[in-house]
Amino acid sequence: MKNAIAITLAMLLSTASSAGPREDQLAQYAAATKSAGFSAARGQTLHTQNFAGGKPDTPACTSCHGKDVRGAGRTPVGKAIEAVAVSVTPTRYTDPAKVEKWFKRNCNEVLGRECTPQEKGDWLTYMIAQ
Ligand code: HEC
Repeated sequence: MKNAIAITLAMLLSTASSAGPREDQLAQYAAATKSAGFSAARGQTLHTQNFAGGKPDTPACTSCHGKDVRGAGRTPVGKAIEAVAVSVTPTRYTDPAKVEKWFKRNCNEVLGRECTPQEKGDWLTYMIAQ
């Protein structure tokens, strides 16, 4: 009986330490798509590609976040943005409401539409790997 409790506790603790808000968010995007998973390479393409559907002065994510994901970015009005790579800014993507808010706003700005769960998962996977 004591052992069973200890094992349950150990299992709970190990789940708690491996799954954070970023993993939960990815799991939600994965549940919303029928694809075979997320790709950092596709995320990188999404990040650097020029789109024609959004605002002309911000055709790509790199327009504000910069070409180097480990470097600081800058908005069109000159406001500095911290690096989007998790290795440089470890607090990134830990607040799901913030992540969703900015995906919505920035995808509309760049692509002229919202990003799909697949695109968001790919992009996050790329940033987590950086
Ligand atoms: C017009 C400038 C601009 C463009 C273009 C832009 N972003 Fe952002 N982004 C921001 C700003 C400003 C923030 C909020 C400040 C911060 O998080 O440092 C932000 C934050 C984010 C966040 C939330 C970060 C967090 O820590 O939770 C995500 C996700 C994001 N952007 C994704 C994208 C993606 C994907 C694209 C391309 C489709 C993109 N952004 C293009 C300006 C931009």
